Amino acid sequence: MDILPLLIFVAFILIPSLKVSIAVDTIALSQSISDGMTLVSQHEKFELGFFSPDENSNKRYLGIWYKNIPQQTVVWVANGAINGSSGMLTVNSTGNLVLKEHDKVVWYTTTSGKKAQNPVAQLLDSGSLVVRDESEVDSEAYLWQSFDYPSDTTLPGMKLGWNLSTGMEWRMTSWKSPNDPSPGDFYWGLLRYNYPEFYMMKGTKKFVRVGPWNGLHFSGIPDQKPNPISSFSYTSNKREMYYNYSLKSEAVISRMVINQTSYMSFRYIWMANEQFWKVYKSLPKDNCDYYAMCGAYGTCMITGAHICQCLQGFSPKSPQAWNTSDWRQGCVRNKPLNCTEKLKDGFVKVEEKQEGHKKEVMTIVTVTIAIILGMLLIGCYRIYTTLRRRTESSDIIHDQNKGGGSEDDHDLPLLDLSTIVTATDSFSIENKIGEGGFGPVYKGKLESGQEIAVKRLSRSSGQGIKEFKNEVKLIAKLQHRNLVKLLGCCVQEQDKMLVYEYMTNRSLDRLIFDDTKSKLLDWPKRFNIICGIARGFVYLHQDSRLRIIHRDLKASNVLLDDELNPKISDFGIARIFGRDQIEGNTKRVVGTYGYMAPEYAADGLFSMKSDVFSFGVLLLEIISGKRNRGFYLENRSLNLVTHTWSLWKEGRALEIIDSNIKDSCVQSEVLRCIHISLLCVQQHAEDRPVMPSVVLMLGSESELAQPKEPGFYVKGDPGSTISILSRNYIISTNEITITLLEAR
Ligand SMILES: *[C@@H]1O[C@H](CO)[C@@H](O)[C@H](O)[C@H]1NC(C)=O
Ligand SMILES: *[C@@H]1O[C@H](CO)[C@@H](O)[C@H](O)[C@H]1NC(C)=O
Ligand SMILES: *[C@@H]1O[C@H](CO)[C@@H](O)[C@H](O)[C@H]1NC(C)=O
Ligand SMILES: *[C@@H]1O[C@H](CO)[C@@H](O)[C@H](O)[C@H]1NC(C)=O
Ligand SMILES: *[C@@H]1O[C@H](CO)[C@@H](O)[C@H](O)[C@H]1NC(C)=O
Ligand SMILES: *[C@@H]1O[C@H](CO)[C@@H](O)[C@H](O)[C@H]1NC(C)=O
Ligand SMILES: *[C@@H]1O[C@H](CO)[C@@H](O)[C@H](O)[C@H]1NC(C)=O
Repeated sequence: MDILPLLIFVAFILIPSLKVSIAVDTIALSQSISDGMTLVSQHEKFELGFFSPDENSNKRYLGIWYKNIPQQTVVWVANGAINGSSGMLTVNSTGNLVLKEHDKVVWYTTTSGKKAQNPVAQLLDSGSLVVRDESEVDSEAYLWQSFDYPSDTTLPGMKLGWNLSTGMEWRMTSWKSPNDPSPGDFYWGLLRYNYPEFYMMKGTKKFVRVGPWNGLHFSGIPDQKPNPISSFSYTSNKREMYYNYSLKSEAVISRMVINQTSYMSFRYIWMANEQFWKVYKSLPKDNCDYYAMCGAYGTCMITGAHICQCLQGFSPKSPQAWNTSDWRQGCVRNKPLNCTEKLKDGFVKVEEKQEGHKKEVMTIVTVTIAIILGMLLIGCYRIYTTLRRRTESSDIIHDQNKGGGSEDDHDLPLLDLSTIVTATDSFSIENKIGEGGFGPVYKGKLESGQEIAVKRLSRSSGQGIKEFKNEVKLIAKLQHRNLVKLLGCCVQEQDKMLVYEYMTNRSLDRLIFDDTKSKLLDWPKRFNIICGIARGFVYLHQDSRLRIIHRDLKASNVLLDDELNPKISDFGIARIFGRDQIEGNTKRVVGTYGYMAPEYAADGLFSMKSDVFSFGVLLLEIISGKRNRGFYLENRSLNLVTHTWSLWKEGRALEIIDSNIKDSCVQSEVLRCIHISLLCVQQHAEDRPVMPSVVLMLGSESELAQPKEPGFYVKGDPGSTISILSRNYIISTNEITITLLEAR
């Protein structure tokens, strides 16, 4: 016996109103919607009906709002008010929507000349009200759709821009006020220049420059970037040019709104649990976003004592106005340009200070923007940006321009062997804290109370005393807060020792690769460590008086002080380059398996880019809490780098995140770090970024290049690292520095 029909039958008896409660999303020719009735889209996402934005007024409007959000959020309004509740919407036989108050037409739609046999009006789940022929489903063939006439809200699927065939603009326009939904004078417009640019307009005046589409985002919103919520695109062809966006998940409810009360535009996201609209993005972000805020040749610096300043060599056009904080007239040249004096006129650097984007980082960085003198600052394109650390007195003790002659004034203290023997309790086994590639490391305490770490170089390290002293002297001159400080050395007979400041938290590998201890390192701390290491390398590669290639960056060579600040250590195999030297070659390949760049491991070629490679590997280790070598996943890939690469290609890179930081991490930030690390480990050295760019990428939100295939074990390549390693290297299962005397 069939039970189902019976159940349905019973349901009908028990709930006689079942049939009429089914929501309707369509009205046909003979039907209408009057005040009090609504249309509800098929999956109950949106509702159309009459509403009053102002409780104290009897004005009613036809609008569309979210069906399932308790606080009525109107996303579209027909441009016409009705006195009282006698409004009625119909679709007539020519396919026009007609809104009437009694018999008076208040608002109606025009059709684009298309004819319909049987026109119907339907509210779609996208939030669009459309008029179509009953049998028509092709959206391009609609007779009319509300998405072509945005109010103050842009929903996913809508376009902002121009239909060039009709010359009709899709424009998002604010309401006049929260109580008056008729169009205000504040809108997002796409101005059709050679390179069309979006502006937020106040009447006919430009208010905020959103800028032209540069292929990735609007140049005026540099922080507009791929994000987990939405994807956006810009389309330009002969027929149309427009911006549109879509949401990545059906579960997310989000809208973009322009508001004339605050003169801002917002992107909101509905927080279903807390039941409120959260502002996800807003524009303008600060005063510097206002169009031509500082006038021509003025720079805007939001953190400055005076927001606007004239470029060097320029003065305010109107000192009085400038004096009253009206900067719009800008600045003028003190002396006219003299193009005959070629060496005198040229480029100027404009510095813009920004707070590091994360509180935890707390770095003040200086962004140097080069602009061509003679171009308007506002409205010109940034040519390039580089990042510099702000020089602080504690930061670089020895400046590279300090001049010669003083070299020997900074001679390294030579410590007595007896002092070190006392400090380390005769190199007692209890004081041994590690074993590096060049010998054991001991903890010690000087009579002054200062704690030290003593590295005792093994006798077989093969370096002469003279070279040793020379190298130590040079390294002692490197002073940077992210480099471990060499306090002195001790040379006695065959014994060579290096004395460093002691780091309470020892080395990074002891924390990140240990399941318990790694819980101490949440994401902000890890990010701080990453940035510190990167800054240390900018100093080594670029800012110090020498150019140092470290050649052995790895987790165990990064030490952590009591506040978990990273310090790069172990310059045992570092190489010093002349300032103009870019690449070196060695017959003696030394380094650590797993961190070595392919060109270095295979051909002994080392450069700043081989350090960058090691940095990339280390970055992935810090994010994943896994060692690059020793990382196996059912043979799917050989190591962490290749594994990350294959996940990256599938858009699943976030899966490598250490489970211990899942709660503390900012996904977009981690994703950016993974992206940067993949740029660092690219196979070809010339594709990898230099360290200053890495610091810039870490500290900004600029677009990043797409990484190419990482270097490492290129399958089937006879010259690949693996085969060389297996032939010649002294491979240790411990992660210690290895040495190869190449037999070529
Ligand atoms: C509604 O009332 C206003 C003023 O009271 C009047 O100007 C307007 O014409 C009325 N609208 C309609 C549709 O009757
Ligand atoms: C439908 O409404 C429009 C707008 O009011 C009007 O121009 C058109 O003539 C109407 N069509 C018919 C058949 O009444
Ligand atoms: C632009 O306008 C033309 C002419 O009315 C129309 O055929 C076309 O569908 C419109 N394009 C879009 C994307 O609405
Ligand atoms: C604009 O924003 C203000 C708050 O700044 C809010 O009170 C107002 O309702 C918004 N206006 C509209 C039309 O949503
Ligand atoms: C923008 O619109 C075009 C055409 O309708 C569509 O193919 C594209 O996917 C849309 N882009 C986004 C990000 O939604
Ligand atoms: C403005 O200009 C006057 C006269 O040049 C000067 O005395 C004053 O310090 C300036 N600053 C302000 C804030 O008025
Ligand atoms: C430019 O400088 C040269 C040499 O100082 C001088 O002779 C010439 O008059 C200057 N031209 C202008 C336009 O100032």
